Formats: sequence, structure tokens, C-alpha cells
Amino acid sequence: MIGRGAVDLSVELPRGLRLDNPILVASGTFGYGVEYSEVVDIQRLGAICCKGTTLRPRVGNITPRVTETPAGMLNSIGLQNPGVDAVVRKYGPTWQGWHVPVIVNVAGESIDDYVEVARRLDGMPGVAGIELNISCPNVGRGGLQFAIDAEAAGAVTAAVRRATELPLLVKLSPNVADVRPIARAIEAAGADAITAINTLSGIAVGPGRRRPLLGNVYGGLSGPAIKPVALRIVYEVAQVVDIPIIAIGGVAELGDVLDYLAVGAIGVQVGTVLFADPTLPVRLIDELADECRRLGLNSYLPLVGTALPKRSSPMSAPSSKGVEYRP
Ligand SMILES: Cc1cc2nc3c(=O)[nH]c(=O)nc-3n(C[C@H](O)[C@H](O)[C@H](O)COP(=O)(O)O)c2cc1C
Repeated sequence: MIGRGAVDLSVELPRGLRLDNPILVASGTFGYGVEYSEVVDIQRLGAICCKGTTLRPRVGNITPRVTETPAGMLNSIGLQNPGVDAVVRKYGPTWQGWHVPVIVNVAGESIDDYVEVARRLDGMPGVAGIELNISCPNVGRGGLQFAIDAEAAGAVTAAVRRATELPLLVKLSPNVADVRPIARAIEAAGADAITAINTLSGIAVGPGRRRPLLGNVYGGLSGPAIKPVALRIVYEVAQVVDIPIIAIGGVAELGDVLDYLAVGAIGVQVGTVLFADPTLPVRLIDELADECRRLGLNSYLPLVGTALPKRSSPMSAPSSKGVEYRP
């Protein structure tokens, strides 16, 4: 047994967002934090990204909304939430008394929606930052997601940036051919960090094979099944932006955390695996400290980016032509 202490896992993100450690919990998989406070020592977490929050309350999609898949799950919750005012009223006072920072995940159907939610969160005690979920249909653009278009992703990021002084994280969708121009647009628009990735679009077939299973037909695939995709995206984005990246996708054990750090993430969020094991993130914090100690490090930061090509080498520079997948 390795003793605790001496290793500093803390990390400073822009705009004074200080995390005790790089292990966060992902939006939609940890409620508002309060639900888990009896089960785990939530104050030890790096940060909590709360459930997606919209301007007005949403009842969510019709059922069934979730189904298991090999090494993962599909969900189509549909952003069920009580709306930003109720969230702030109900949870703000509790969050304010917490040591762990709470980052509010924000969703909307128009830039005005996002801006208004950000305005209402700005300066609100208990809110440490905003994570924009831009994988939402942009009603003003015929239902196309903000996240699949660099111009739309940049526009919503810039508008929210103007509306708030809070640390601003923007979450990438994997459902694009090349995520790099989108990541660059988000950085140029003033985001403080990128989180990657949201779920992959998928479907399942229902009983009797008479229709798709989910009430909403489409769902988001998450869990260990998506880790190679998330790793690839973090690897690509880390080579084209300078802002910090927080990786999300199937984190289930310390090896996953170390892999994401190696391809350039400064931290990770744990999502789907929490449903099976809510104690995982706290265990990962201890295991990461043990690993640093084993390597003779007093910080985990030297583990970040070790598997990235050296930026100075033109031979290893990433292509700007698209995803480098060759069958
Ligand atoms: C049930 C469920 C609900 C989710 N709700 C949200 C949400 O409201 N906002 C968001 O940005 N991501 C949401 N996500 C996506 C997760 O935050 C995360 O990006 C994704 O699940 C990949 O990580 P994982 O494989 O560790 O679960 C949700 C995921 C699940 C499984």
C-alpha cells in the first residue's frame, strides 16, 4: 500500500477555475451532485458538471429513453430539466457551501437561449463555470446542430463569452467528419477550455423489429465503446488549439485516464460508468496520485501530451485535410 500525500493533483484552468484534481463527473450522469452526496465524498471530486440546463423547463423525450449496448448505452433523455431559474433557486445555496466546483451544463435551441441562461448564471453564488452543450438543434438554422458547423459553434461561443465572466467550457460533438476547424473556431471565439466528447449518434431496433427502439428513434452512444473515438478526437484537437482540453468518453479505470492525459487532455470526466460504480471517480483520484508517486512525480502534469507528435517536427504535423483514417 502506497501512502497518500506529497503529490499535488491540482490544476489551474483559465479565469481562476482551480480544480483539486483532474477527475470530474460528466453532465447528465451525476444529476446536480446532491443525489450522490450520501454515496460518495463528492467534495473530493475535481468538479461536477451538472445535468443539462435550459432557459425554460423541459419534460424530455418520450420513452423508452435508454437501452444497453455492448460496452455502453444509448440515451435520448431529451434534456429533461426544470429550467435555469429553478436550478439556481433549488441548488445554488447548496452548491455555494460546497468545496467542489459545480460547472453548469447549458443547452439551448438558439443563440439567444444560450446567452440568456449564461446571463442568469453569471455572478450566481455556487456556479463555478459554464459548459456549453452545443450538440443541440439550432432552430434558427433549420435544426442543424451548433456543434457540427464551425461558424455556428464560434457564433454561440462568442455570444456567451460576451454575456458572462464565468469560466467557459465548450463541449465538442463527435458527429462530424473533422472536428478541428470547429475546435479552432471555439477557441478563437473566447472559450477557456474544450470538453470532448459528447455522445455518438446511434439507434437500436425495437422488439419484433417493427420500429427503432427509442421513443426518439435516435440516441447518444456512450460508455467504454466510444473511448477510441474520443481518444482520436482529443489527440487531433490537442494539436490545433492551445486552450486546455478535458476528455470524456468511457472512462472506466486508471489506464483510461492515463491514455487521455497522454493524448493531451488536462483532465477527464467520468460518465456512463458511474451508473455501475459511483465510487469510481474518487478511486481514480487516489490511483492517479499513487501512479505519480510510483513514477517519482509530485504533479500529474508531466503525463500530459506524452503521446502527441512533437509540434516542431514538420513530418509529424497533423494533416489539415481531414481525419487520418485509412482502412
Ligand atoms: C444519461 C445521459 C445523459 C446525458 N446528458 C447530457 C447533458 O445533459 N448534457 C451534455 O452535455 N452531455 C450529456 N451526456 C453526455 C455525457 O456528459 C458524456 O459526454 C458522454 O456520455 C460520454 O462520456 P461517457 O462515455 O463517460 O458516458 C449524457 C450522457 C448520458 C449517458
